[in-house]
Amino acid sequence: MKITIIHGQSHKGSTYKIATDLASKLNGEVKEFFLPRDFNDFCLGCTTCFMKDEKKCPHYEKLVPITNAILEADVLIFASPVYVYHVTAGMKNLLDHYGYLWMVHRPAEAMFKKQAIVISTAAGAGMKSTIKDVKDSLFYWGVPKVYELGVAVAATSYEQIKESKKKDIEKEEAKIAKKVIKRNGKVKPRFKTKAFFFIMHLMQKTGWNEVDSLYWKEKGWTKKTRPWKNK
Ligand SMILES: Cc1cc2nc3c(=O)[nH]c(=O)nc-3n(C[C@H](O)[C@H](O)[C@H](O)COP(=O)(O)O)c2cc1C
Repeated sequence: MKITIIHGQSHKGSTYKIATDLASKLNGEVKEFFLPRDFNDFCLGCTTCFMKDEKKCPHYEKLVPITNAILEADVLIFASPVYVYHVTAGMKNLLDHYGYLWMVHRPAEAMFKKQAIVISTAAGAGMKSTIKDVKDSLFYWGVPKVYELGVAVAATSYEQIKESKKKDIEKEEAKIAKKVIKRNGKVKPRFKTKAFFFIMHLMQKTGWNEVDSLYWKEKGWTKKTRPWKNK
C-alpha cells in the first residue's frame, strides 16, 4: 500500500505524531511532505492551469514530486493543525494549486480509486471546519472514501496531552487503519460523486472552457466511459 502524507506544517508536533502513528499502523510504503518546507510558492491567481495547461503553472516543476506522490498513492493522509479555525496557509496554498483537478475542470482518473484520511488537531476547537477545508478538495477531486480524525488536544505539544486522551487517539487511529486496510484497492465512488460527475459530463459536452471540454472528450467521459471503471 502506497501512502502519501501531506503535513500542513513543517514542525513535528501533535498533528505530525498522530499522522505518522496512523500511517505506521497501515504498514505501507510512506512518502511525506511538509508545508511550507517542501513547497512554499503561493498561487499567483494567473488561472493558467484552468485556462491553458497546468504544466504552464509557474510552480509546476517544483510541485511535480508532490503531485506524483499524490497521484501514485493508494492512501492520502492530509494533516493540519487548526490555525484560526482552518487549515494552515501552507496546506491551503497546496490545495489552491490543484484547483484544476476539480471535477468541474480536469480530474485525474487515479483519484476515483483512493482512500484519504484527514487529520486535524486544535487546542480546543475548529477541527470540523479545518477538516472540511481538505474534504472539499478531496470530494471535488473525486476521492471516494474519506476518514476524519479531529482531536482537541488541549495542549501545545504531543507530550503535554493527557494519557487518557492519548489512549483514545490511538484507539481511533487503529479503528481507521483497520477499515483502510480492509478496503484497500476496493473503494468505489458513492452516489454523490457519481451524480456530480454526471452533471459535469453534461456540462463538458458543450463546456465553456475548451481545454476542459477537450480533456473530457478525449477521456471518453462525455460518453459512457467513467474514470472509476476498469477499461
Ligand atoms: C496561528 C495559530 C492559530 C491557532 N488557531 C487555533 C484555533 O482556531 N483553535 C484552536 O483550538 N487552536 C488553535 N491553535 C492551536 C493549535 O491548533 C493546536 O495547539 C494544535 O494542536 C497544534 O498542533 P501541532 O502540535 O501539530 O503544531 C492555533 C495555533 C496557531 C499557531
